Amino acid sequence: MQGKIIGISGPTVTVDLEDLTLYERVTVGYHKLQGEVVRLKSTGAVVQVYEETKGMSVGEPVVRKGSPLTVRLAPGLLNDIFDGLQRPLQRLGDEFGPFIRPGDMLSVVPCETRYNFIPEKKAGDEIRAGEYVGYVDEGRFRHYIPASRGGIVGQVMEGDICPDDPVVILEDGHRVLTYQQWPIRVSRPYRKKLFPRESLVTGQRAIDFLYPLARGGTAVLPGGFGTGKTILEQAVAKFAEVDIVVYVGCGERGNEMAEMLEEFRDLTDPWTGRQLLERTILVANTSNMPVAAREASIYTAVSMAEYYRDMGYHVLLLADSISRWAEALREISSALEEMPGEEGYPTYLASRLSGFMSRAGVVETLNGKIGSLSMVLSVSPPGGDFTEPTTQACLRNTGTFLMLDTDLAYRRHFPAINWSQSFSLYDAEMAEFFSREISPTWSDLKKRCQALLNKEEKLREVAEIVGAEGLQDTDRLLMFVAEQIRSTFLCQNSFTEDAFSPPEYTFELIEKLINIYDSGIARLEKSEPLPEILQDIET
Ligand SMILES: Nc1ncnc2c1ncn2[C@@H]1O[C@H](COP(=O)(O)OP(=O)(O)OP(=O)(O)O)[C@@H](O)[C@H]1O
Ligand SMILES: [Mg+2]
Repeated sequence: MQGKIIGISGPTVTVDLEDLTLYERVTVGYHKLQGEVVRLKSTGAVVQVYEETKGMSVGEPVVRKGSPLTVRLAPGLLNDIFDGLQRPLQRLGDEFGPFIRPGDMLSVVPCETRYNFIPEKKAGDEIRAGEYVGYVDEGRFRHYIPASRGGIVGQVMEGDICPDDPVVILEDGHRVLTYQQWPIRVSRPYRKKLFPRESLVTGQRAIDFLYPLARGGTAVLPGGFGTGKTILEQAVAKFAEVDIVVYVGCGERGNEMAEMLEEFRDLTDPWTGRQLLERTILVANTSNMPVAAREASIYTAVSMAEYYRDMGYHVLLLADSISRWAEALREISSALEEMPGEEGYPTYLASRLSGFMSRAGVVETLNGKIGSLSMVLSVSPPGGDFTEPTTQACLRNTGTFLMLDTDLAYRRHFPAINWSQSFSLYDAEMAEFFSREISPTWSDLKKRCQALLNKEEKLREVAEIVGAEGLQDTDRLLMFVAEQIRSTFLCQNSFTEDAFSPPEYTFELIEKLINIYDSGIARLEKSEPLPEILQDIET
């Protein structure tokens, strides 16, 4: 069905089409720009357009597509970079040049690609929707192909196929293809959700030891300007012990994404020794790209992440930054003239965000496998004010809260994770995990380390008044060791060899520092002079 544009306001366009449904996809204008219906009126509808509307005029055609905005879930997503609408950026660049023009489109997976399909069903088998019919190899991963519908298997293909070939034909004639179109705003089904019990090792000491992440859990890292959000997100993307990483550059600098792509090409995954890009999907909707597609980009990314989770993989989704997504939401909402809530954000900001974050979790999939989807989201509160709506909405939904501290960043203590105001709700389960996997004394050491850091903070206040000389020797020793913990254990430079710290090394290092403190106390009890003890520690 075709209609026409009757009004344009930035990324939103009013159209005269009747009988549209909410969130239905339409193409708008002569360039066939992608759009989604966001409001229905008594006559016509309002469409949010995902591409640049500059130059578009009233009267241009609008065509309804009859389905919501979808992503194509298929082999070949790994090792590639897409925009918020899942357009393959590298191949678009090769085909059309460095600037994407409105309406440019290419298939997500090139048509000439070929796969070797290994079936796991045979003619006569009864299958359910979502059940795997076989697999193809995607790099080092086994990529399972789910049935789009249930029924009795009629014909099964084997061996060399291309992306558009059916892999199975059901007796009723239905063709099961290698790909499926999935509506991005709908979470993919699973059998049941399980509680996160395994740690998501990040190789960052401050995180793994003090505020651990969980596989299937969520973490947010809010921080003011220049506090190291991007560097930390990228460090986690490089070193996290997961199978697959989906990284969304959401409204941030384009050059950061370009550098990351280059860097990931050269780096190897410390857990498998394979090229890092092989396990990574990048979604780029940087600050210079259309704002409406930024709103969709996190849903595009999470749908792809869920798809791999369903195959029984551990998937990690990172977004930098969720604040830019919230700003896109605000921009669209104001173009729609909706009633603004706090700080101009739409009133549904918190519920949208919690809807998105609840797509994380450990699940038993429809095929009985266990997969997980974890999220690490950075937040950039304007002016470093953590009481603003996006930070607060994230805080209410997250399992781990890693507060990045402007003072620490200013002193070049990186990662600038504040050790008194961050928290992890997975603490107890993860302590159990590390005690089992690394050392039974993990929890005790952690408690002692935290106690030392807390005590140091109090002592520092006292020392500011009475001077360090006014403190007792035991307190001065404590301050000295705490300083060592901060500078050698909690600080981790992402540009050196130290960027990745395996948990065994993390444990060894902190054990050494706590032992130094204990032996210092023992020597003080034997009345040895403090300066001598401190000198021994330093050497
Ligand atoms: N782990 C780290 N190791 C060494 N240097 C770091 C680390 N983290 C941050 N830095 C330094 O801080 C600078 C700013 O970091 P980054 O770009 O990640 O901040 P940001 O919070 O993303 O900033 P913005 O708010 O502008 O996006 C980096 O260029 C780097 O010099
Ligand atoms: Mg940044």
